[in-house]
Amino acid sequence: MNPMFARLSLLGIAVAFASLNAAHAANLQKGQALVNQGGCIACHGAGLAKPVSPDYPILAGQPQSYLFHAMQQYQAKHQTPLYGRDNAIMAGMVARFDTQDLHDIAAYVSSLKTPLYEPDMARDPRP
Ligand code: HEC
Repeated sequence: MNPMFARLSLLGIAVAFASLNAAHAANLQKGQALVNQGGCIACHGAGLAKPVSPDYPILAGQPQSYLFHAMQQYQAKHQTPLYGRDNAIMAGMVARFDTQDLHDIAAYVSSLKTPLYEPDMARDPRP
């Protein structure tokens, strides 16, 4: 292989990896916009922390990867009936988002102040 070509292909691979990383970095502002446009507060409540029904989960402050995978699971069921979380409401809500949207939404929602219990490790140590 011509050394110049080899160097250019390596550069190409490096650039490809760099843009792959950029695509995965979550954008909180985009996530906030998608949540606001998506009408999520209609059910999950103000700040996504006060659900309108006790059956609806509190989203604010849950771990980012948990939220991301939960939303992917709703999409999976929507696309392949044999796999994924089975919830008609949420399957519909997340159907139009792409993977990057889900990363952005998860990052934003995770950043919100949560009313959920956070263990006090000093007072309540785990084995
Ligand atoms: C019409 C009511 C409704 C709307 C609007 C709604 N959700 Fe939900 N959401 C639910 C219900 C009900 C569940 C619980 C479903 C289940 O049992 O799996 C849920 C579950 C979730 C979960 C999983 C939480 C967990 O702890 O497992 C996430 C994440 C989520 N919703 C995100 C969103 C986002 C983001 C939006 C806006 C784009 C949204 N929801 C809009 C009703 C709604």
